[in-house]
Amino acid sequence: MLKIGVKNFLAVICLAILCGLATTALAGQAMLSVDDCVKCHAQQPAEIDADGASHRTEIDCQACHEGHRPSVENNIPSCSDCHEGSEHYAVDNCMSCHNPHQPLKVQLEGEHKTVCVSCHAGPNKEMVASPSMHATFACNFCHADTHGMIPDCVDCHDPHSETMTQANCGSCHQAHKPLELTYAAETGSALCAACHDSAYGALAASKAKHSQIACATCHPDKHKTVPQCNDCHGLPHAEGMHKRFPVCGECHNVAHDLNNWPAK
Ligand code: HEC
Ligand code: HEC
Ligand code: HEC
Ligand code: HEC
Ligand code: HEC
Ligand code: HEC
Ligand code: HEC
Ligand code: HEC
Ligand code: HEC
Ligand code: HEC
Ligand code: HEC
Ligand code: HEC
Repeated sequence: MLKIGVKNFLAVICLAILCGLATTALAGQAMLSVDDCVKCHAQQPAEIDADGASHRTEIDCQACHEGHRPSVENNIPSCSDCHEGSEHYAVDNCMSCHNPHQPLKVQLEGEHKTVCVSCHAGPNKEMVASPSMHATFACNFCHADTHGMIPDCVDCHDPHSETMTQANCGSCHQAHKPLELTYAAETGSALCAACHDSAYGALAASKAKHSQIACATCHPDKHKTVPQCNDCHGLPHAEGMHKRFPVCGECHNVAHDLNNWPAK
């Protein structure tokens, strides 16, 4: 029979506890799990919980951070470890726009065009085809700070009149080709009046039926289109008369103020 004295018994117990601790400690180091991270790092798990997108659902902390200090010196991954094979993944400095813990909460600092165009070719094509001051700006000069933000024209420009609002700008202008001035047939004459008050005033005061017609009906589609009377009227009088008096305006004055027409 092996006899163990109280002293020895205690020593064995102590040894057993120390062995246990050591094993736990070793296992702890080897088996640092995703659940442990939050015990020491509050911010990154919170960001991932709220806005991790695929970096929360498809992978976890340790898919990116393999190992930990002090045993692993560098556990910071490169984006290219997992993202390859598209024009977008070839741009510089991924983390200037993406926080890896909130990958879709894109922050836009500095000036960007090339990166934007890698996904949105359309706007740049329009700007190249139709040059204007806007085409000389970085995309995020207007689409600033957060991705997807769309500015109002009136953030930077005054409307042409006091009654005109942001909702009207798109009737005549498009942001990426602002000098290509086109408009729909239903564009209200009051919008033209912002700059053409004399034409608007003359027409409004006229008793002829032209006063019932919208500016955009006679000057259709594109700014500065000027029609001929006979586009709409043909040659309404006897042939001989048109030969002798070829200019309609000699008798009818101007379209905005036809001569002495009796009633509206
Ligand atoms: C016991 C506390 C603790 C736990 C648990 C912990 N960390 Fe850390 N971590 C730290 C400390 C402290 C530092 C700073 C180390 C330093 O600067 O030398 C750090 C640094 C880091 C860094 C930055 C490394 C660098 O090179 O800058 C990353 C990444 C990291 N931890 C990820 C994790 C992940 C992922 C987990 C979970 C798997 C985790 N940590 C669990 C304490 C912990
Ligand atoms: C998609 C890969 C990826 C995932 C997933 C990820 N990280 Fe990170 N993490 C990074 C990168 C890249 C950096 C370096 C960021 C930098 O340099 O600004 C980083 C930095 C860190 C740092 C150091 C921060 C600092 O300011 O030095 C800690 C701590 C950290 N991550 C913890 C975590 C934790 C905890 C998780 C899981 C909840 C996690 N990360 C998930 C990629 C990831
Ligand atoms: C360990 C692998 C891994 C690393 C490293 C990694 N990612 Fe990802 N990332 C993924 C996976 C997997 C997805 C989901 C599938 C996909 O979109 O390719 C993803 C998706 C994304 C998404 C789209 C998120 C969504 O939900 O649509 C963005 C943005 C992103 N990653 C940016 C980055 C950036 C920037 C870095 C470097 C800081 C990085 N990733 C590093 C694995 C990784
Ligand atoms: C100029 C800012 C910017 C830079 C720099 C940038 N990205 Fe992005 N990235 C974006 C924007 C904006 C999106 C679109 C986000 C969305 O769909 O809401 C995006 C989307 C993504 C996506 C998801 C959609 C997709 O096409 O797969 C991934 C993955 C991604 N980026 C990875 C990267 C990597 C890797 C780098 C560096 C090589 C990088 N990004 C550099 C702005 C940037
Ligand atoms: C990786 C691809 C990607 C990159 C890079 C990217 N975008 Fe986007 N962008 C998207 C996607 C996807 C959407 C959402 C779908 C859509 O409306 O087209 C979007 C939406 C937008 C919208 C809102 C569109 C709408 O109709 O509401 C604007 C504005 C925009 N992006 C501007 C930019 C600018 C400026 C940049 C450069 C700083 C940029 N994007 C970079 C993919 C990208
Ligand atoms: C002068 C300001 C300005 C600049 C510069 C600008 N945009 Fe826009 N963008 C706008 C406005 C305003 C809208 C809203 C649509 C409109 O009013 O015509 C818009 C709409 C968009 C949209 C959504 C609708 C669409 O046309 O697809 C995208 C995407 C977009 N812009 C991307 C870009 C990109 C990419 C660049 C750079 C090549 C750029 N923008 C440059 C002001 C600007
Ligand atoms: C972030 C500011 C900003 C936004 C938003 C913006 N612009 Fe501009 N725009 C400018 C600047 C700066 C110029 C050049 C200097 C000037 O003429 O004021 C300019 C010039 C113009 C020009 C003259 C272009 C030329 O080449 O002569 C027109 C027309 C114009 N903007 C219309 C618009 C319209 C319409 C919108 C909305 C769809 C808009 N802008 C949105 C800043 C902006
Ligand atoms: C009814 C058509 C119409 C509407 C609506 C309209 N514009 Fe214009 N805009 C024009 C025309 C035409 C010009 C060119 C004038 C010229 O050739 O000098 C112009 C020129 C501009 C210019 C160049 C500088 C200047 O003042 O001549 C800016 C900036 C501008 N518009 C901004 C706006 C904004 C902002 C809105 C909305 C509040 C708007 N426009 C609504 C027709 C319109
Ligand atoms: C922002 C001011 C502005 C707005 C708004 C505007 N115009 Fe003009 N328009 C001008 C300027 C400037 C000219 C050139 C100088 C002139 O002939 O008075 C012009 C010229 C014209 C011309 C004469 C072209 C020529 O060859 O003599 C017509 C026609 C015209 N505009 C029609 C319209 C119509 C129709 C609208 C409304 C859909 C409109 N304009 C809105 C500023 C504007
Ligand atoms: C019934 C058709 C018609 C209507 C309606 C009309 N116009 Fe005209 N406009 C013409 C014709 C035709 C001319 C060429 C000069 C002439 O023969 O009278 C002209 C000339 C112009 C001119 C250049 C010469 C000038 O008078 O300054 C401008 C600017 C103009 N119109 C703007 C407008 C505006 C703004 C409106 C709406 C308030 C408008 N027009 C409504 C037919 C019309
Ligand atoms: C865009 C088409 C259009 C153009 C251009 C146009 N008109 Fe008219 N005009 C009309 C319409 C529509 C009426 C009304 C017809 C009706 O209701 O009987 C009208 C009516 C008239 C009338 C009769 C007026 C009345 O009150 O009964 C005269 C005269 C006339 N136009 C002359 C002209 C002259 C001259 C020009 C050129 C300076 C011209 N028109 C240009 C469409 C046009
Ligand atoms: C020599 C003067 C003269 C010339 C030139 C002239 N007209 Fe007239 N027009 C008149 C007179 C007078 C009337 C009204 C008497 C009538 O009903 O015949 C009239 C009537 C009209 C009417 C209204 C017809 C109706 O049935 O309501 C139209 C439309 C018209 N003219 C268009 C034109 C056009 C277009 C031209 C140029 C191609 C033109 N006129 C040239 C003198 C002229």
